[in-house]
Amino acid sequence: MSSHPSTPDLVNLLVDKYHRHLRQSVRELIELAPQWDSFQKQFSGTPMCWCKLLTTWWGEVKQHLEKEEISIFPAFVSGRASHLAPQLRTLELEHNDHRQLMVTLAISVDEGIKLLETLPVSAGTECSSLPQVQRFAELAGEMVEMLNEHINLEDRVLFPLALGLDFSDHQEINPNPNSPE
Ligand SMILES: [Fe+2]
Ligand SMILES: [Fe+2]
Repeated sequence: MSSHPSTPDLVNLLVDKYHRHLRQSVRELIELAPQWDSFQKQFSGTPMCWCKLLTTWWGEVKQHLEKEEISIFPAFVSGRASHLAPQLRTLELEHNDHRQLMVTLAISVDEGIKLLETLPVSAGTECSSLPQVQRFAELAGEMVEMLNEHINLEDRVLFPLALGLDFSDHQEINPNPNSPE
């Protein structure tokens, strides 16, 4: 990236792309989680309750997104962010917490994908919910990736920019991965 992104552009990108994607993905993942759990239990003997884990996790993440959208981001856009350093530190700590379950989810998805690849053809009749299981794996993998991008953008680009810190260490990050640098 040759020039610094603007704070309003970054805020729009985060809310319109990452926050929106997260809200949509989590809703669908929680709906599909019972099929994922029973698939893993049936074929690998791993008892997990992703429905409960994701629901609890989402309760915390939803509050975090609302805090950003209602108070933090508007302050960034209006240029009144210099006093927000303590709140941003809290948001960074929450990001670390949010990542922890995603690490476990990524492991669960990797294991599930390997299992799907090695299942005998007869498994399709034993497990009628395989399409939902495949969808869960696809969606969960995408969500983990997007959440990492989302958190990196906030911690490494938006927050330093809003506080007026030196941005030179963060120039390798393209705030919009879908556009050419
Ligand atoms: Fe965010
Ligand atoms: Fe955040």
